[in-house]
Amino acid sequence: MGYAGWWLGSKLGRKNPLVITMSIGYACNLRCRHCSIDAMLRANPGIKTALTYDEVVADLRERHAQGARIAYFEGGETTMWRDGDRDLGDLIDAAHDIGYFNVGYTTNGTTGKIFTNSDVISVSLDGPRDVHDAVRGEGVYDKLMGTLAGLEYDGSVYANMVLQKGNLDRIRETADIVRENPRLAGIVFNFITPPPYEILPTHEEKVAAIAEIRGLKAEGYPILNSKKGLELLAEEDWEGRCPKFMSAFTMPDGTRRNGCPSEGTESCRHCGFDAVREYYLISMGAPSTIMEMFPVFARSKD
Ligand SMILES: C[S@@+](CC[C@H](N)C(=O)[O-])C[C@H]1O[C@@H](n2cnc3c(N)ncnc32)[C@H](O)[C@@H]1O
Ligand code: SF4
Repeated sequence: MGYAGWWLGSKLGRKNPLVITMSIGYACNLRCRHCSIDAMLRANPGIKTALTYDEVVADLRERHAQGARIAYFEGGETTMWRDGDRDLGDLIDAAHDIGYFNVGYTTNGTTGKIFTNSDVISVSLDGPRDVHDAVRGEGVYDKLMGTLAGLEYDGSVYANMVLQKGNLDRIRETADIVRENPRLAGIVFNFITPPPYEILPTHEEKVAAIAEIRGLKAEGYPILNSKKGLELLAEEDWEGRCPKFMSAFTMPDGTRRNGCPSEGTESCRHCGFDAVREYYLISMGAPSTIMEMFPVFARSKD
């Protein structure tokens, strides 16, 4: 079944996931300001912190049988995941073998490991050097740029910027860094989904940031959020509209759900994830959004 079949099926009432996002393990070499994983781990001692290879493959198979065709690996730091002598590259191969059209992962780009069998790679970039390092730790920006400079990879690499208090006035500079880097195909902007709440921008700050990003997109900057997605990004409470069926989530402890792990929590009422808006627009059949998102996020690189 292709994408068109999935979409027609969804209109006929077959509410099956198109995307599976798997948080394969919480292990990480960084402690970023906006990331709540470390605090969550400290609050839940003894929680299972990684999926095994067999668990990932079983889940990929089951979701593929239900209709999923796009698989994303998340963490923790994805490139640190291991099960015996298996690593993230083996999970990507398994997803392709099962029949996923597009397989991707997100990385902080600092571990020296890049898996080039992925169709798309997302690297985190939270601002120019001073801001990125304030968010992620001293020297992290230069490590990321070094990784990009040495990259031999024929797929798309895009940057993911999490907008939060502290980087809202550095949007254009960050977009310039992306535009000038030949290894980066574009940038996606998200707002922080709290916790932590103290760096959550106000509604007015979000509206101003979105206006700036829309202006940059109109100027021709490689901004991958769709135009309509950007219009919806300041609207925070998606509880009633989130097209939960489109995206299946699996967490390192084996918890599985449709929708996202924040569903029903206070965080959900401050959702800053662009993907939620894009899923919503795609589920509504918005042709411009489908045309804008497809070339990077839905095709195989081979
Ligand atoms: C959880 S990380 C995992 C991959 C990798 N460790 C990294 O940092 O890119 C995936 C993405 O989620 C983002 N992220 C982390 N905490 C977030 C939050 N509270 N709200 C929105 N995005 C967040 C990160 O900046 C990163 O781009
Ligand atoms: S590198 Fe990724 S997983 Fe690690 S602390 Fe930062 S955002 Fe969280």
